[in-house]
Amino acid sequence: MREIKKVAVLTSGGDAPGMNACIRAVTRAAIYNEMKVVGVYRGYEGLINAEFKEFTSSSVSNTIQRGGTILKTTRSKDFMTPEGRKRAYENMVANNIDALVVIGGNGSLTGAQLFAREYDIPVIGLPGTIDNDLYGTDHTIGYDTALNTIVECVDKIRDTANSHDRIFFIEVMGRDAGFLAQNSAIASGAEAAIIPEDQTDVDQLAEFIGRGVRKSKNSSIVLVSEAQKDGQGGAFYYAERVRKEYPQFNVKVTILGHLQRGGTPSAYDRILASRLGYASIEALIEGQRNIMVGISNDEIVYVPIQRAIKMNKPIKKELIDVLAVLSI
Ligand code: F6P
Repeated sequence: MREIKKVAVLTSGGDAPGMNACIRAVTRAAIYNEMKVVGVYRGYEGLINAEFKEFTSSSVSNTIQRGGTILKTTRSKDFMTPEGRKRAYENMVANNIDALVVIGGNGSLTGAQLFAREYDIPVIGLPGTIDNDLYGTDHTIGYDTALNTIVECVDKIRDTANSHDRIFFIEVMGRDAGFLAQNSAIASGAEAAIIPEDQTDVDQLAEFIGRGVRKSKNSSIVLVSEAQKDGQGGAFYYAERVRKEYPQFNVKVTILGHLQRGGTPSAYDRILASRLGYASIEALIEGQRNIMVGISNDEIVYVPIQRAIKMNKPIKKELIDVLAVLSI
């Protein structure tokens, strides 16, 4: 097993609150273990263009409470090409970098896996995305903060929904995953959630209206995952349908957009990010490679990156039942 003397860390894909706490943890745990640390700017783009900066412990001072990512981030198209990955590898060799820690979501870990398969470099993935859609970890960094932000917004929108007797379709992030929609619906006492995982054979809108929610309540809040429906955003699609099919209802749409991704990370996300960052260095010392570090049942787990990105992380049926029953 090759001794790791220098480790690079980068953030990739959508920024998520807690990424800085994670960069801090990777940096300090590495330094504690007498490794050098290189911060890579702009995700994989920075690996390809050698945007490197040697980090000290103080490089990450005063960052644990900050949203976004001090390393900046991109969704790199070049890294998806063999030429891009070759340049990235050559830069790492030229700078004596022995290992790579990637903090990001599904797309970022897909890139990490390709790289780890092609080149003899230990790569450790850390789950960083508000979507919570990586298999093998209970939560991803940023999810808890985003959930709390959404709930705070929904509480405010509810005032208007109540005052005007309106149905609000509130669109939240999570292109292919309904964790944010489902759990923010439960936490905000919403009437329904429309999520991609539940769209195969049921018409969720008809089900919601059919449940007769409007019979017992004068206003309704429906959380909708941003997945596209018939070429338009989910919330607009469902609002349009209600206007046509149930013209008696007063319908509004709110798209929460990128305000869900920003802001100071919750205590939960800071702790999660710190534990995962620390564990990534422990994993490298143990000789692990091509794995994602996650937390399952409050224990650190190593998940092959292949499984983390390919397996679908299911939404528990229980969560769907809880919402349906408690919103009567
Ligand atoms: O993957 C994280 C995420 O926030 C998704 O929920 C969302 O679909 C996407 O990123 C938005 O990406 P961008 O900021 O590039 O528009």
